[in-house]
Amino acid sequence: MQQTYFMIKPEIVREGKHVGDILAIANRAGFKITGLAMRQLDRALVEDFYGEHRERGFYKDLCDYICSGPVVTIRLERENAVAALRALIGATNPAEAAVGTIRSLYGESLSFNAVHASANPEDAARELKLIFG
Ligand code: CMP
Repeated sequence: MQQTYFMIKPEIVREGKHVGDILAIANRAGFKITGLAMRQLDRALVEDFYGEHRERGFYKDLCDYICSGPVVTIRLERENAVAALRALIGATNPAEAAVGTIRSLYGESLSFNAVHASANPEDAARELKLIFG
């Protein structure tokens, strides 16, 4: 069994309609939810979380956005969880995400792409530690 970090972003939480649908998609794909909380993340934590993007032009807007309201933080468990969740959410840009993926269903744009999932097992371990301790 492998663990990964999954996060539902502020625009979805703010709207309040699709959090349950997104969790159900993960459950139907065989993921077990082993941690779950709706949280307002503090700025320092978010800057650290997205630290690999620090030099990118979108970094400040990304951090502002993730801090703009509560997110749903989720720990998921499954065989091959990291790769399986990345496949389930689809490409970073919802316009390029395969039909039926979470970002194709609920994402609006590259900046407002509904969810985040850890990119690789090392990131999963780091992100889970940051968020769940
Ligand atoms: P996420 O998987 O949370 O990881 C970093 C986020 O940065 C990404 O989803 C996008 O929402 C956001 N982002 C904004 N602009 C870009 C960009 N040009 N390239 C990649 N990610 C971007």
